[in-house]
Amino acid sequence: MKVVFVCLGNICRSPAAEGVFLDLLVKKNLTDHYVVDSAGTGSWHVGELPDARMREHAKKRGIDLKSRSRQFKPEDFDLFDYIVVMDKSNYQNVTALTKKDENIEKVVEMASYAKSHDENEVPDPYYGGDQGFEKVLDMVTEGCEELLSELEQKRNQR
Ligand code: 4NP
Repeated sequence: MKVVFVCLGNICRSPAAEGVFLDLLVKKNLTDHYVVDSAGTGSWHVGELPDARMREHAKKRGIDLKSRSRQFKPEDFDLFDYIVVMDKSNYQNVTALTKKDENIEKVVEMASYAKSHDENEVPDPYYGGDQGFEKVLDMVTEGCEELLSELEQKRNQR
């Protein structure tokens, strides 16, 4: 099962989701069954580590974020089964890169898995304070747990 998390810059929300998902896979002994990546719809931060604030907040929860930013590309539709976006503009930017229904069907929203949160998007923390980074981690932690249980059901049906 191949999963890519997508946000705008690929330095805050999607690397956090990637790190949280990988941590869950390790804890559940499932790493052999998954390929996990993240990407941004924008290219401003390509090659950079996640934002230092995001890394610090994740570290407090025992999660090391070590990915390097890259831009989402149309070929990713062929490489991944699930494309998990953080907000509505990510959804628009990703789906604008394809005309195929089968590709668009791969795109799901993280907020729809974080059911205990009222927000329908994972809010961009870049221009805000500490609370924004904590909110991202809270939402992606719940979202990744729910997503993984859905993916495990699918995988076990294959
Ligand atoms: P992300 O946050 O999409 O969660 O990685 C952002 C990072 C950088 C910028 C915007 C959002 N930026 O404008 O550079």
